[in-house]
Amino acid sequence: MHALNDDVRSRAKPALYDELESSLRGLLAGEPNLIACAANMSSLLYWSLPDLNWVGFYLLDEASGDLLVGPFQGKPACVRIPLEKGVCGAAAAQRRTLVVQDVHAFPGHIACDSASNSEAVVPIVLADGRLLGVLDLDSPLLNRFDEQDARGLERLVAVLLTAIAATK
Ligand code: SME
Repeated sequence: MHALNDDVRSRAKPALYDELESSLRGLLAGEPNLIACAANMSSLLYWSLPDLNWVGFYLLDEASGDLLVGPFQGKPACVRIPLEKGVCGAAAAQRRTLVVQDVHAFPGHIACDSASNSEAVVPIVLADGRLLGVLDLDSPLLNRFDEQDARGLERLVAVLLTAIAATK
């Protein structure tokens, strides 16, 4: 793994998210395309945050109203998730970050990778209230994500929203 990422991964969570926010700003600077930004963001998170087996995006498909898999890192995943299904659908429908300590105890959880045991999902909502999709992180550990992760990931999604604002 890249040396810089090893260094970043060993930090305490507040410092780690500060560092990630700054790296992400640099990575997305000058590029307003959602897919391009989401692709690099999923890679940055996958290689910088410890204990993850999947990180990626589900983007709202206007035609069907479903969440459709977007750029990600990890094993192949479920393609389509109806709104309100699974953790991703629930976070999208409720427009709030969901942290699930044990996905097996979450009613309706969709198991894409059997290695996943906990999950965090952050909705991506434009300033005018339109839903673009969700950022989804899965971990093989139980209780991997806490409030610090939830707030940190929300800050990273805010960086993404700023980067793509001109095109939405
Ligand atoms: N577990 C998610 C589905 C997506 S995968 O984790 C990549 C859910 O319940 O919405």
